[in-house]
Amino acid sequence: MNAGIRAVVRTAVSRGWEVLGVRHGYAGLACGDFIPLGRRDVSGVIGRGGTMLGSTRSPAFLLAETQERAIRILRERAVDAAVVIGGDGSQAGALALWQRGFPVVGVASTIDNDLHGSDITIGVDTALNIALEAIDRIKVTASSHERAFLVEVMGRNCGYLALMSGIAGGAECIVLPEVKTDPETVARDLRAAYERGKAHAIVVVAEGAQYNAEGLSNFFREHSERLGFDLRVVKLGHVQRGGAPGVFDRVLATRMGAAATESIQQGRFGVLMGLIGGEIAATPLAEVVGKEHPLDMKLVDLAAVLAQ
Ligand code: F6P
Repeated sequence: MNAGIRAVVRTAVSRGWEVLGVRHGYAGLACGDFIPLGRRDVSGVIGRGGTMLGSTRSPAFLLAETQERAIRILRERAVDAAVVIGGDGSQAGALALWQRGFPVVGVASTIDNDLHGSDITIGVDTALNIALEAIDRIKVTASSHERAFLVEVMGRNCGYLALMSGIAGGAECIVLPEVKTDPETVARDLRAAYERGKAHAIVVVAEGAQYNAEGLSNFFREHSERLGFDLRVVKLGHVQRGGAPGVFDRVLATRMGAAATESIQQGRFGVLMGLIGGEIAATPLAEVVGKEHPLDMKLVDLAAVLAQ
């Protein structure tokens, strides 16, 4: 997100505009918590994860009166347009502002990769690399001690992070919210891996799966004698949202941030800047919010074949 903020600030300033950063997301927008941002204020942020402005989950912004108050404050401060960097919840807020008449451009950013209107969103690649590094490290113990490990990755209700990190990490089994997988199937896949002579077995599970780390570890504990598995569980959690962004995310966020100010220049509002087919593309927010970004089921099938 910092790379996106930096690109918005520097491209806007180069157009002769003034930029205000909104602190703490919609909570800050609703109370006018703004800071002026010039070129030097974003120096050095491109290599830092997260957001220099801070972010909050703000249920109050779902209320019409909060949205109206935010617009009133923006107008009082003579703000002409806003750029909203975030995922589905943030873009729902952006759409609400736009529908109430305030000019907004969205930038697609979430590690979940569940946003319609972008093949890939800011943060996904870095989160995947963090998950992959963890899986590779866990594999060392899994192999030397001949143990089964379960690694839970984030992603809310979307299995993208689990699928991609599972494929890249050579998981024996991947458990996704999109595919009903009962615990007996996981146990069968693990047993089959050992029977094929594998020294280790890794299950990558999405936090949003029906049987996530908790559900699966409960099941394996309850049936440990019958299953004969000592399943160790690692939940990566917020570790995946930390760390320095990689090249892909820095460049993606830079391109999207620059495209957002270009869109403002052209007077094109109510759209989300995303990446479609390798190019930055604008999709109306009304088509984005609440829509799904389905998993590529061919990759799900491929993962099952590769795990053999
Ligand atoms: O949407 C991004 C995400 O990291 C999800 O993958 C995860 O479920 C959620 O946010 C965690 O939210 P919080 O940091 O508010 O607990």
